[in-house]
Amino acid sequence: MIYTVTFNPALDYVMNVKNLQSRDINRTESEQLYYGGKGINVSVILSRLGMDSKALGFTAGFSGMQLEEMLEKDGIKTDFVHLKNGYTRINVKIKSDSELDINACGPEIEATDVDALFEKLEQLKKGDTLVLAGSIPKSLPDDIYEKILQRFDSRGLNFVVDATGDLLLNVLKYHPLMVKPNHHELGELFSVNIESIEDIEKYAKKLQDMGARNVLVSRGKNGAALLDEYGVVHTMGNVPGEIVSSVGCGDSMVAGFLAGYYEKKDYAYALKLGSVCGNATAFSPNLASKEDIEKMFHNEFFNKEG
Ligand SMILES: Nc1ncnc2c1ncn2[C@@H]1O[C@H](COP(=O)(O)OP(=O)(O)OP(=O)(O)O)[C@@H](O)[C@H]1O
Ligand SMILES: [Mg+2]
Repeated sequence: MIYTVTFNPALDYVMNVKNLQSRDINRTESEQLYYGGKGINVSVILSRLGMDSKALGFTAGFSGMQLEEMLEKDGIKTDFVHLKNGYTRINVKIKSDSELDINACGPEIEATDVDALFEKLEQLKKGDTLVLAGSIPKSLPDDIYEKILQRFDSRGLNFVVDATGDLLLNVLKYHPLMVKPNHHELGELFSVNIESIEDIEKYAKKLQDMGARNVLVSRGKNGAALLDEYGVVHTMGNVPGEIVSSVGCGDSMVAGFLAGYYEKKDYAYALKLGSVCGNATAFSPNLASKEDIEKMFHNEFFNKEG
């Protein structure tokens, strides 16, 4: 079973407004409510690929209940810790001539809540996969990822970490199955600019030397490169076209990689399925649907590249 953890999930309230005026009452033309959070996104794409997973993390209040209800309706298994106070955040995205995003900070997480999460993680067994993705809310210690991996390291789990800075560097010693910095994040780790595939190879190798098994570097509009655990570099471009929304592209790639890896234990295929899902989400207003992914999988581009 694959478990994902989202510390600070959110509902995104998207309001479509024509000619937004700052000193007037504005009215929307339409609005949508989506759920979000990096771990949750990974669970959603896994489910659309036909793979079971369970979304863990923290929810609170009426918005937390709404989030869980929406996930369950979409067939995603959940087992969240329910916080006593506050609300799961509602991020407001105003789409007008330009886009204005206001992200909330989210509820306070106390030490007893973290204990409750550790209790839930006790259900993980040998061979299970744990995906830790995204940043850490301010109320949590910034070594929380490290603490989780330390505690469950002896269990024979596969860890996947999509995080930045020290949060990522400090977990490499637990030999994660895969880490997925984008090229900016990879550069920041070593205070360099990543300009070429040779740079990616060089710095991905450094992450491997520090303990990572596979390093998947996503490159936004330029595709992705994978340095696999055997030292082979695989690269993949993108389907040409104008991106619709970049939200969840990286998370979709993580999900596709995992599904591809578990299906065939073949890294070229894992990168292909990761890229298929990343591209499918790039060309969708929100996360790619099952049909979007299937269509992208059969796109001539991916079949030509192998
Ligand atoms: N403009 C684009 N056109 C096509 N595919 C794209 C585009 N941008 C991203 N993708 C796909 O999504 C993958 C991940 O994108 P990106 O490198 O932007 O991830 P990220 O920065 O980690 O994103 P996130 O914001 O989700 O963390 C890319 O490797 C590619 O497969
Ligand atoms: Mg990312």
